[in-house]
Amino acid sequence: MTDPRANLDPIETASIDELRSLQLARLKWSLKHAYDNSPFYKKRFDEHGVHPDDLQSLSDLSKFPFTHKQDLRDNYPFGMFAVPREQAVRIHASSGTTGKPTVVGYTQNDIDTWANVMARSIRAAGGKPGDICHVSYGYGLFTGGLGAHYGAERLGCTVIPMSGGQTEKQVQLINDFKPSVIMVTPSYFLNIADEMDRQGLDTKNSSLKTGIFGAEPWTNAMRQEIEERMGIDAVDIYGLSEVIGPGVAQECVETKDGLTIWEDLFYPEIINPETGEVVEDGETGELVFTSLCKEALPMIRYRTRDLTQLLPGTARTMRRMGKITGRTDDMMIIRGVNVFPSQIEEIILKEPQLTPHYQLELYRDGHLDKLRVFVEIKPEVELKTGKGKELAGHLKHMIKSYAGISTDITLCAPGEVDRSEGKAKRVVDNRNIA
Ligand code: DLL
Repeated sequence: MTDPRANLDPIETASIDELRSLQLARLKWSLKHAYDNSPFYKKRFDEHGVHPDDLQSLSDLSKFPFTHKQDLRDNYPFGMFAVPREQAVRIHASSGTTGKPTVVGYTQNDIDTWANVMARSIRAAGGKPGDICHVSYGYGLFTGGLGAHYGAERLGCTVIPMSGGQTEKQVQLINDFKPSVIMVTPSYFLNIADEMDRQGLDTKNSSLKTGIFGAEPWTNAMRQEIEERMGIDAVDIYGLSEVIGPGVAQECVETKDGLTIWEDLFYPEIINPETGEVVEDGETGELVFTSLCKEALPMIRYRTRDLTQLLPGTARTMRRMGKITGRTDDMMIIRGVNVFPSQIEEIILKEPQLTPHYQLELYRDGHLDKLRVFVEIKPEVELKTGKGKELAGHLKHMIKSYAGISTDITLCAPGEVDRSEGKAKRVVDNRNIA
């Protein structure tokens, strides 16, 4: 058997010292590049009283100011670029919940870096040259589709650029072209799986072997559900437009123990979201990234708002991050108790009669914030008189015991909860609706 590590990029298995010294050299370059070429960063560093020369060790990075999503909005569309706009060969954008989209740009070298790191990610997930790779992430301004596409081509796969939507056709193409790899949000993959069931296909014995799932939070309970139902390896991929797109971190199939951060390209820190202080590896906090090689749009200490922890490397030299448990901005506070949608997801998935199709509604009752859980029951489950009430009561009790909050439960028939063709909208906030 060939050594599974034989084709890795040398840096994936380099010594820690080698990795750290590469990072330091690249970090110095990146800070200087940002300062010399982006008026935004020059002003920000000057106001903060720091200069790229102040960085002598990796830990000196904490002296530098953060970059926020709002900075991108304030400099909409191209104001943060560190190269003349003509050198940007590609633009992507992510639609925010409010206001203007966040615009990002890439030079040809950036596109190359991204393709390489995505190829590395697909390989870590178990993909290999020659595989057929079905991409159901949306193509267009969203980074998911094109990011996955270029990476799969770079690895030497045959790419099916399906994009999101047209679920029946997704299933037809999977059935006819027989891809072994699928790249899609986990929530949309569940819709594809439901459609396979509807068409009477044998989901466990499809051609698919590997699912590379990301762009939204999903739990290990969801992994188990998908793997058992579909007979595939389900691994996590993380990324964000501001940092490059998908492929910032990828779970390795041989360990499935969190996501290896490609930290030769993206330097991670975890901070306390309230104080901004850097915390120790192993502690949970907000993930912050600094790009080490990006040309068009360098990102210095970008606050992702994603909550996780840094863990030592296992399958690779690079550190891992735990699964994202939530975002600082999607934490719900229900009568003083903090809760994330992922906690509710885990509890729902413990209940065999329920599906992973769920949505949470925040609403106001007088002065109190309340949470309603809409969740679909499995199609084969028949709720005879009294049974629905019992199941709802049981789920309510479990959520109270594990998450510490009281909820209202609405059990829905199959197909009743809103389906996504991309990122699922897990929380609907109706608190301002009378
Ligand atoms: O979602 C990039 C991407 C595409 C990643 C395809 C993976 C696969 P944005 O639209 O800018 O970019 O959204 C980034 O999505 O800050 C996280 O909150 C969330 N996110 C992305 N991947 C994961 C993941 C793409 N694996 C935001 N787990 C990030 C949890 C994720 N959340």
